[in-house]
Order: sequence, then structure tokens, then C-alpha cells
Amino acid sequence: MGFTSHKRHLIAGNWKMNELLSEAKDLVTHLGENPAEDHVEVALMPPYTLLHPLADLLGERNIRLGAQNVYFEPQGAFTGSISPLMLRDAGCHYVIIGHSERRDIMGETNEQIRAKLHAAWESGLEPVLCIGEHLDERENGETNAVLRSQLVVLEGAPEGAPITVAYEPVWAIGTGKTATAEQVTETHAYIHEELTRLGMDCRVLYGGSVNPGNAEELMACPGVEGALVGGASLDADSFTAIIQAAANVANRV
Ligand code: PGA
Repeated sequence: MGFTSHKRHLIAGNWKMNELLSEAKDLVTHLGENPAEDHVEVALMPPYTLLHPLADLLGERNIRLGAQNVYFEPQGAFTGSISPLMLRDAGCHYVIIGHSERRDIMGETNEQIRAKLHAAWESGLEPVLCIGEHLDERENGETNAVLRSQLVVLEGAPEGAPITVAYEPVWAIGTGKTATAEQVTETHAYIHEELTRLGMDCRVLYGGSVNPGNAEELMACPGVEGALVGGASLDADSFTAIIQAAANVANRV
């Protein structure tokens, strides 16, 4: 394959708009330590309201914190928005940018996504850029063209800017349907090829109904370097099993 495999894979839990403080405390208590630190990095991406308390709860634990969105201005009269500096201040290392729910429900555009990426980099955050096609686009053979049109936001990225890309086919998110190993392998190869063309060398995660039953097969696909997990990250046992599955695969590589 024409890409280098990155040493540590990332398993990130995207809690979306779920969890109250008491539930988050329970979840984090049951999660314990990252059991596979040498091979797998673990991150939690809770709603904004839980960032500060989670930073305290996680303390010195080897689990990183991320947010699910960010605004691109540093400060000012932008009622309801959160800046990259605020996320750093709350203890975030990562921020999800361009999730399909934000593109489809909130109408987020490539232009806004590009602005958010640059704002995140300026504050020292590592963006997790989500890309993925809808079902009709896959059925019409447009997957690669869609992904290419989403990856253009990386043109003009500063040299060495930290980034993780998450490939999340929209039809696989929250549906219980996952892409087949063949689809994942083929699509990740294309994404790595595009990233190389753009001069970026980074991890590419898979996301979309990842669960303890399919994690090992998905993580073993060439070019997959971790997972962005939604629903299954809300259950400590499921999330731990996914981390373990990623560690089993990383151990074999
Ligand atoms: P899911 O969500 O695992 O619930 O499909 C993944 C995501 O949207 O990041």
C-alpha cells in the first residue's frame, strides 16, 4: 500500500448530544484506565457542558479530551458559540470538525469547515475532520468524488499541521449498518491517496456503527487507524471492548 501506517491508533468516543453530569461520571468511572496505552490512544468527545468536569474526572488518566464542534472566531459577540481557545482552556486536545450531522442538519459548508480548521490549528487543537458520502452517492458511484470535494478544505493547511481524518459513510452512522471490509479498505486507500496528493500524512479513522462485534474486522482493514465511535461509546463495556479490539489488531501489525 502506498501509505505509512501510524504507530498509535485512535479510538474516540463521540457522545453527541447525550449524557448529563451524573451519567458521565458513571461512564467514566466504569471505563477505568486505557487498557492498551502502547498501541491505542483513547479520547472522549462529550458535549461542551461536560468538558470541564470530565477534565477533572479524567485527571492524570491516559484518556484525551475533545469537543464536537468549534466556532472559527477567537472571541467576541457571537452569542452561543465556543472558541478554540475556550476548548484549550477546558483541557481539549481534539475537536471534531465537519461531522455529517453538522453538515446535514446545521448546513455547515466547506468554507466554514476550512475556517474552523485554521482556527483550531492556531489554538493548538488537533482537528478530527469527518468526511463521508450519502447512500445515493455511493449507489451512483460518486463516493470518491464526494470525498475529494470534502478533502479540498485541507488545501493550504500549514506545514505539519496536526490532523486526523475520520471516514464516516453517512448511511452507516447510527443505523447499525457498517461498510463491508472491502468497501472500507478500498475507500481508505483512496483517502490516503488524496491525502498524499495534498501533502498530508495522517491517521484515517473509520466511523459508522462500530461496535464490539465488528470492531476487530474493521480495524484490521488496511489504512484504518482507529475509529470514531458514537452509540457504542455511551456504554463503558462496549467502548472498552472496542479499545481492546483495536489493541489486538495493532499488536498484530
Ligand atoms: P455511530 O456514530 O457509531 O453511532 O454510528 C458515529 C459517529 O457519528 O461519529
